[in-house]
Amino acid sequence: MTSLIIDTDPGVDDAFALALACASPEIDLLAVTTVFGNASLETTTRNALRVLALCGRTDVPVAMGAERPLVYPQVHEAELVHGSDGLSGRAHLLPSGGAAPVEADAVELMARLLRAATEPVTIVPIGPLTNVALLLAAHPGLRGKIERLVVMGGAVSGGNTTARAEFNLWSDPEAAHRVLVEERVPTVLVPIDLTFQCMVERPWLDRLAAAGPLGETLVGLTADYVAHYTAFFGKECTILHDAIAVAEAIRPGLLRTRTYPVEVDCAFGPSRGALVVDRREPEIIATFGSKLARSLEIAVETDVDEVREFLLARLAG
Ligand code: BDR
Ligand code: CA
Repeated sequence: MTSLIIDTDPGVDDAFALALACASPEIDLLAVTTVFGNASLETTTRNALRVLALCGRTDVPVAMGAERPLVYPQVHEAELVHGSDGLSGRAHLLPSGGAAPVEADAVELMARLLRAATEPVTIVPIGPLTNVALLLAAHPGLRGKIERLVVMGGAVSGGNTTARAEFNLWSDPEAAHRVLVEERVPTVLVPIDLTFQCMVERPWLDRLAAAGPLGETLVGLTADYVAHYTAFFGKECTILHDAIAVAEAIRPGLLRTRTYPVEVDCAFGPSRGALVVDRREPEIIATFGSKLARSLEIAVETDVDEVREFLLARLAG
């Protein structure tokens, strides 16, 4: 059994990721913590509560975290992708369940759960890294209680928010720098280069919608999100970024990784928020060294059909 905390900004693909964790018997979902990102903190929190209610998991505590980046305010730019309410304008169709966030904030709840844990806990950040940076900064003594971080974010070969930067890292580059470069907690980074490989197309969505009420409701949240990716790729499809990271947390090793020296660009130039990856051959790096000090495990490939079938089987209920 893997004890899991998901730090999230729902978001359509976040909704799939939460549902996947709820549908997985290997997972003990300790908590869901929320962060600004795809929408305001208030909206992402409401969406998280609603998705958990949809999954019949109102017992999972939800704690609110950061409402803005650590240092520099940054404009939210996800409405075009995830719709006006983060869920393609369909959030109101989900049950509200009447649940509310707990009194503790995200960092407080994560710290409390880590302190109490008898086995190390996996944390899956699938939004801006602000809450996790604050956790590690405020509670350095709890690092050892973290089994690993499985982080959805970053782009190796080209961004989705700017030419170089991926949305989660771009949303709070200083937090991403703290977590991915300055810390030494075991981490697997799942970048968009990998999640794009796992694209799902209309027939996959139709199979999920036909499989049962959960699948039907989840697919019902995808209209704006699918429209965005359809315009982007020229075919009816979508990318379930965050669900791929949660799949790796459920089945460690589902994604194959390579270790690279990395840096996160925090300068105010065209590469702000970009993940800089030293992709030279290991022998070259061994000979000449890398100017990038942190070695990070990055997911580079997977059996995409296996991933798609895994998601489908779990979300079908
Ligand atoms: C990431 O950005 C968000 O829009 C998605 O929810 C995902 O976490 C992909 O770049
Ligand atoms: Ca997300």
